[in-house]
Amino acid sequence: MTTNTLTKPAPAAAGSTGPYAARIQHVSKSFGRPGAQQQVLDNISIDVTPGEFVCLLGASGCGKSTLLSLVAGLDKPSAGTIETPGGRPALMFQEHALFPWLTAGRNIELALRMRGVPRAERRGEAERLLELVRLKGAYGKRVHELSGGMRQRVAMARALAQDSQLLLMDEPFAALDAITRDVLHDELTRIWHETNLSVLFVTHNVREAVRLGERVVLLSSRPGRVAREWQVDIPQPRRIEDSAVADLSVEITEQLRGEIRRHGQH
Ligand SMILES: Nc1ncnc2c1ncn2[C@@H]1O[C@H](COP(=O)(O)OP(=O)(O)O)[C@@H](O)[C@H]1O
Ligand SMILES: [Mg+2]
Repeated sequence: MTTNTLTKPAPAAAGSTGPYAARIQHVSKSFGRPGAQQQVLDNISIDVTPGEFVCLLGASGCGKSTLLSLVAGLDKPSAGTIETPGGRPALMFQEHALFPWLTAGRNIELALRMRGVPRAERRGEAERLLELVRLKGAYGKRVHELSGGMRQRVAMARALAQDSQLLLMDEPFAALDAITRDVLHDELTRIWHETNLSVLFVTHNVREAVRLGERVVLLSSRPGRVAREWQVDIPQPRRIEDSAVADLSVEITEQLRGEIRRHGQH
């Protein structure tokens, strides 16, 4: 179970988390005062198995970020339960949220310190993580010296520094140009293969979901419910322009349009 403290999660070898990395069961969430409540999520159930890459897809405002913050333990569901047996998940957002007064390396070391990594090991580990995201040599760079894509690489390294078994990503590449985003899709797929992480990746971009996910879960809007899900059996590495990716994207987009029409949004 996740706790809301910053204590180090119990170290666990891959595969030791049981049959799921995250279990979301019958989760509903409402905001507002009694009598003036807005229901954002309604009876959501999703299991993420260890090592699985699940994309959560939906129109903006459908409650994706709300659901992710519940899985992260930043807020509590109004009903239902969420379990993350591997410990506190790592989080990565659209905004890199790096500390601008620290270098890339120091930003990562801060996460290592929070995790309880001894001081003497932090530098070497930060450099290893920078190498993993292909930013070798960026240790001493400040945030303003890095491009948008490089900042998101550092943010990814910092998320990996938490050594969680579950990585929660909330539209992490949405602000990047298409070419940089495509490169980072490749990097994320490679890192996912190399690390055995479970990933719950939120996006409103259908192609991105199909490019990355082993499974795509489509949420409806107002309130957010699981509308449908697809198993994506297209072999990795995929390209965003692959015809199989395009074909499935067309099918999912049709369904998403239907959801948006039904709920009178946009
Ligand atoms: N803390 C909050 N208080 C009140 N309403 C909220 C809060 N957080 C989110 N909402 C509402 O929940 C809905 C879903 O928001 P969000 O989860 O950010 O959607 P998405 O990430 O899919 O774009 C929106 O209508 C938003 O206004
Ligand atoms: Mg959001």
